[in-house]
Amino acid sequence: MFSGPFDESIIKRAIDNGLVEIAIHNLRDHGLGKHRVVDDYPHGGGAGMVLMAEPLFAAVEAIKNDSEIPVILLTPQGRLFNQQVAEELASHSRFVLICGHYEGVDERVREHLVTDEISIGDYVLTGGELAAMVVIDTVVRQLPGVLGSDESVKEDSHSNGLLEYPQYTRPQDFRGWEVPPVLLSGHHAEIAKWRREQAILRTLKRRPDLLEKAELTNKERQMLEKMFE
Ligand code: ADE
Repeated sequence: MFSGPFDESIIKRAIDNGLVEIAIHNLRDHGLGKHRVVDDYPHGGGAGMVLMAEPLFAAVEAIKNDSEIPVILLTPQGRLFNQQVAEELASHSRFVLICGHYEGVDERVREHLVTDEISIGDYVLTGGELAAMVVIDTVVRQLPGVLGSDESVKEDSHSNGLLEYPQYTRPQDFRGWEVPPVLLSGHHAEIAKWRREQAILRTLKRRPDLLEKAELTNKERQMLEKMFE
C-alpha cells in the first residue's frame, strides 16, 4: 500500500536525498505460531477481530531503541490531526506509527505501548495505513530542504491558523477574468497587505471556526469585530 505514495514526487525526492527515512514493518513478521497470527476474537464476544498485544509489542520493541521515541497509534479515537500536530511530530527525529486494523487493538497496547493516538478525521477507514500516509506526507513536507523554497511552507494554508490567500499566474486576462491589479503593481508592501486581508476574509467565509485561534494582530481583530457590528 505504501509504495505508490512514497515512490512519487516530493516524498520520493526527500527519501532519495537522504532528508527522511521511512521504514515499513510488517506486523506479521512478529505474528504468533506457524501461521504468524496477529489477531484474535474479542474477549466477551462481539463482531470482528482484535489485534493482539504480543505481536505489536514485539514489533515495536524490535525497532525502537530509545524510550523517548513517540509511538503513535492511528485510530479514529485519537486526537484530531492538524498542521500543529504535524509540526509537533516534525520536531522529533524519529517516531513510530502503528496502523490499527480490524475492529481494534488490544487495550493493553493503548495503555502500555502507545504514547499518543491520532485520528485524521471523524470518519472510519478500513485501516490506519491511509492515515499513516497522510501523517507522513504532511510531516515530510515540513522538513527543511524538502520543498523547493522554505517560503512555501510558511505561506501554507493552516501554517498561521489561516487559509492561504488566492493565487494567480499567467495570463493576466483569462476569458475576461482579470488578475487583481495590486498583484501586478510590483508594490511588495501593498501585495503583502492584500494577501493578508484576503487570507483573513477567506478564512472568515470558509472556516470561521479557525479565526478564534488564528495569529491575528489587535488591529486585525478590531477589523473583524467591526464587520460584525
Ligand atoms: N483508522 C481508521 N480510521 C482512522 C482515522 N479516521 N484516523 C486514523 N486512523 C484510522
